[in-house]
Amino acid sequence: MTEKLVLVTGACGEIGQALVQGLAKQGGYKIVTADLAPLPDSIKSMSAEHAQGDLVYRIKTFYDYDFDVIFHLAASLSSKAEVASEDAHRINVEGTMQLLMLAAYRSEKYHKSVKFLFPSSIAAYGMASREVKKAAGAVKEDDYNTPHTMYGCNKLYCEKLGMYYSKYFGQKHLDENPPHMLDFRAIRFPGLISAFTLPSGGTSDYGPEMLHAAAQGKPYSCFVREDTKISFMAMPDAIKSLLMLLDVPREKLKHQVYNIAAFALTAGEFRDRAVKAFPGAQITFEPNPRRQGIVDSWPEDVDDTLARTEWGWSPDYDVDKFFDEYFLPEIRKRYGK
Ligand code: SER
Repeated sequence: MTEKLVLVTGACGEIGQALVQGLAKQGGYKIVTADLAPLPDSIKSMSAEHAQGDLVYRIKTFYDYDFDVIFHLAASLSSKAEVASEDAHRINVEGTMQLLMLAAYRSEKYHKSVKFLFPSSIAAYGMASREVKKAAGAVKEDDYNTPHTMYGCNKLYCEKLGMYYSKYFGQKHLDENPPHMLDFRAIRFPGLISAFTLPSGGTSDYGPEMLHAAAQGKPYSCFVREDTKISFMAMPDAIKSLLMLLDVPREKLKHQVYNIAAFALTAGEFRDRAVKAFPGAQITFEPNPRRQGIVDSWPEDVDDTLARTEWGWSPDYDVDKFFDEYFLPEIRKRYGK
């Protein structure tokens, strides 16, 4: 069987590293990676070729490759994007648009639909107030699409761009024999937590930061209130979802953007779990108004019925399994506690 050629941008990020490992484990893929940074040792041997540099300026080089699949993970996350918004727009929107154009071009020219997998986010939602957030509970994909952040605006717009390039670009769908278009699929991820890597520049980072600090016996000052609630997920489930969605036959998918959920937890509940696992963990709450505002605008939870019904999604890790069977055993190995 010939290997499929897959591009993973943002390969050095948290999802990137875990995804490259997942693809390599699954087999059948030749993996090309791209990132601003050099590849970490964890995935060096799995990448057939690494393009280091700014995607927006390097896009021409990728036109020579016959990609079957593109995972476009490179992004500036929500807290960072809020303080460097022009840069974030360039990375998050221009980078995505360049790759969508490439995928559209290849799909049409070579008569095959390049699959384009895009990680969107709970940041695509915007809850007008804490009362609205509480009352809304688990939100559906088309509700509350009024993001409060640059990152959220970027993600929501890129979802729309993906739909545009895969369905309407050039208005060729009106032709009698429309050409092949790219196959765009997006997942709106909750806050992700890995036992192996730490996020940077995001706003759901307080979850993983708190747990990694407790595991190392370091004090942690949490930048949101104790009652702050959003949904989280174990990194292996995030990778599972991307690999699942990749393989679903197009005709089974009635949508292009899907919520996925695992467990929703308050920062206080995280603290309680951390203290139980690592007695003596020192965790305090000192909300940062800007970062608090961002998380307050994200929903408490998301409704993932579409993903469950259309492609059989379900997470392997609920909150108990996340702690007992994934995070704690791995983190104890990592920090020797
Ligand atoms: N985890 C991301 C962030 O905090 C949201 O998708 O920015």
